[in-house]
Amino acid sequence: MEIRKLSAAEIPQLAALERRCFSDPWSERAFESELENPLSLWLVAMDGERVMGYCGSQQVFEEADIMNVAVCPEDRRQGVADALLEELERRLAENGAETVALEVRVSNAGAIALYKRRGYTQAGLRKNYYFHPREDAYILKKQIKI
Ligand SMILES: CC(C)(COP(=O)(O)OP(=O)(O)OC[C@H]1O[C@@H](n2cnc3c(N)ncnc32)[C@H](O)[C@@H]1OP(=O)(O)O)[C@@H](O)C(=O)NCCC(=O)NCCS
Repeated sequence: MEIRKLSAAEIPQLAALERRCFSDPWSERAFESELENPLSLWLVAMDGERVMGYCGSQQVFEEADIMNVAVCPEDRRQGVADALLEELERRLAENGAETVALEVRVSNAGAIALYKRRGYTQAGLRKNYYFHPREDAYILKKQIKI
């Protein structure tokens, strides 16, 4: 597995994985605008030319937000998301970020277990944050200052 920055060639695979993972998937266009955004950093975990998983963030000065994390169903529980987050946090800290925040569905026990294991703690709750189905989000945060 190789972790590297997202490039345009992988966007169709990301959009396809979004459709497999989420009820409100990001479009190819949405990923294209992330590539054009100087505040954004997206990483992919590659098996050759195949995307196993990805994660992405936006950073404004010392605060970063994780926008999304997903791993192909057949590649789960092998440490792919953990490795992606490790590298994302390292690059964000190197770029001056001091905290990372994210939202997660309150029912998403697997993702919550991943984030808690990586040191994220609950910083708040956003009522009715998600649609399809409507659901609250936990806001999780972690200090990453080096
Ligand atoms: C959540 C997700 C990204 C995890 O990816 P992954 O590559 O399987 O995660 P990892 O293998 O790196 O997991 C690392 C640790 O996190 C925890 N964890 C991850 N998935 C878990 C699950 N489904 N149930 C319980 N714990 C889980 C475990 O502690 C795991 O370590 P272990 O396998 O040694 O027990 C993946 O399940 C996914 O893509 N889900 C659908 C999309 C999604 O919900 N994204 C998050 C949006 S906020």
